[in-house]
Amino acid sequence: MKKILFVSSEAHPLIKTGGLADVSGSLPKALADLGDEVRLIIPNYQAIKTTGDIYYKSTVQLQNAYANLLETRLPGTDVLVWLVDCPQLFGLAGNPYTDAQGQAYANNAERFALFCRIAVEVAMGRGYLDWKPDIVHCNDWQTGLVPALLSLESGRPATVFTIHNMAYQGLFPKQAFSLLNLPRALWHPNGLEFNGSLSFIKGGLAYADRITTVSPTYAEEIQSAEFGYGLEGLLSYRNNDLTGIVNGIDDGQWNSLTDPAIASHYDASSLADKQGNKTALQTRLGLPLAKVPLFALISRLVDQKGIDLLLACLPEMMALPLQFVLLGSGEKQYEQQLVAFAKANPEKMAVTLGYDEDLAHLMEAGADLFLMPSRFEPCGLNQLYSQRYGTPPIVRRCGGLADTVIDTLPETLANNTATGFVFDQASAGSLMEAIKRALFVHSQPKVWQQLQTNGMQKDFSWQNSAKAYQALYAQL
Ligand code: ADP
Ligand code: GLC
Repeated sequence: MKKILFVSSEAHPLIKTGGLADVSGSLPKALADLGDEVRLIIPNYQAIKTTGDIYYKSTVQLQNAYANLLETRLPGTDVLVWLVDCPQLFGLAGNPYTDAQGQAYANNAERFALFCRIAVEVAMGRGYLDWKPDIVHCNDWQTGLVPALLSLESGRPATVFTIHNMAYQGLFPKQAFSLLNLPRALWHPNGLEFNGSLSFIKGGLAYADRITTVSPTYAEEIQSAEFGYGLEGLLSYRNNDLTGIVNGIDDGQWNSLTDPAIASHYDASSLADKQGNKTALQTRLGLPLAKVPLFALISRLVDQKGIDLLLACLPEMMALPLQFVLLGSGEKQYEQQLVAFAKANPEKMAVTLGYDEDLAHLMEAGADLFLMPSRFEPCGLNQLYSQRYGTPPIVRRCGGLADTVIDTLPETLANNTATGFVFDQASAGSLMEAIKRALFVHSQPKVWQQLQTNGMQKDFSWQNSAKAYQALYAQL
């Protein structure tokens, strides 16, 4: 049994912008279920939603700042959460990283540096919490300074840094380094400096004892220039300390037999009951109750997700007998173009802009097929949820998508391993071909049912991944 401090900038259901929150909301519990003593530490944003009580625990004084530590529990679990409370930095309307207009906060370096420094105090047993971890497990750039600062401490816990996305590095102008009063010893090309800028993520990549990312394929990809964004050299250098561990599904949240957000419960033995969700979804989104294949996509609308590929396919898709529902928010140009397509094709396409957890569940359950044409995807969770919900995904062969979806081919159909459709090129042509291939298989009910069943029966539980993390912790 180990004591683990899990450091993250978001955790579902307290606060979520993407998959990082799913992971931080479920891996700590999976580790606790296996016997580890896990504490989660996140900033106390104004938008945090909790059903539990919140207690004041302590005040941590730094050189020229301080924060309060509040304690609550991760809703629905026994996992203790410490909230780093500093209203000037975290008590803002808007999401954890951007203001209500979608602009990154100008003081993000200061915000997450404070968060990291407080996490370091807790990690060193100086948080007046009567607790000191064996392992500090950090996630993404917002936590990158933790391994860096800890590297200067004696008697420190071991550190693990998990990369959820190399595209977000926490880069700030050089001046931020002195403004933040960071130790000089950390400023060099093998430290926090990156081409003259301050890089938060390098704090994790250069100083953590072990680095992980969220799929084995992505662990390979980020050692190349295409996916490494200038850090491929460092990642290759640390190759021996770098592993890929795929994310899992939180069964409490994503279970088609109990999901409170869906209209009709079902599993692999009662697939006919899935239809109730399709009807509910079509009704909710104002689409005709047509008996055509229904495609869904739920995503942040950013380049990573291949939205441009989808947009290029839409004219051809709209000419086919199908319907398409999309839920997402992000870049304005994508939002506008998608809304325009839906307006022009009201019988076939419905777009919901914004963030809606319940609708996301109903879409996973109600759609026939799920689209995820990502240009890169460290792990991806929606393709796991869609397989679990009997909604075969169409994905591009990259990162975690390549590791978790088995393409439908004569041999994978014959041995019952096929779970979806995988295409290679990041081009509209390849995506369209995969869509047509999927439609052809969908037109054969027996084969389709087998595909659905294969996906639903796959073991994507957190338990396996949590065990892999435990094995890693054991090496430290
Ligand atoms: P990423 O973390 O890159 O956004 P993932 O596939 O790992 O991608 O995780 C995305 C998570 O966020 C999933 O749980 C997905 O359902 C959810 N999600 C994304 N956009 C929305 C939205 N607009 N409304 C509801 N849930 C969303
Ligand atoms: C990131 C990645 C996504 C991954 C998630 C959780 O946001 O884009 O692929 O599933 O983190 O690890």
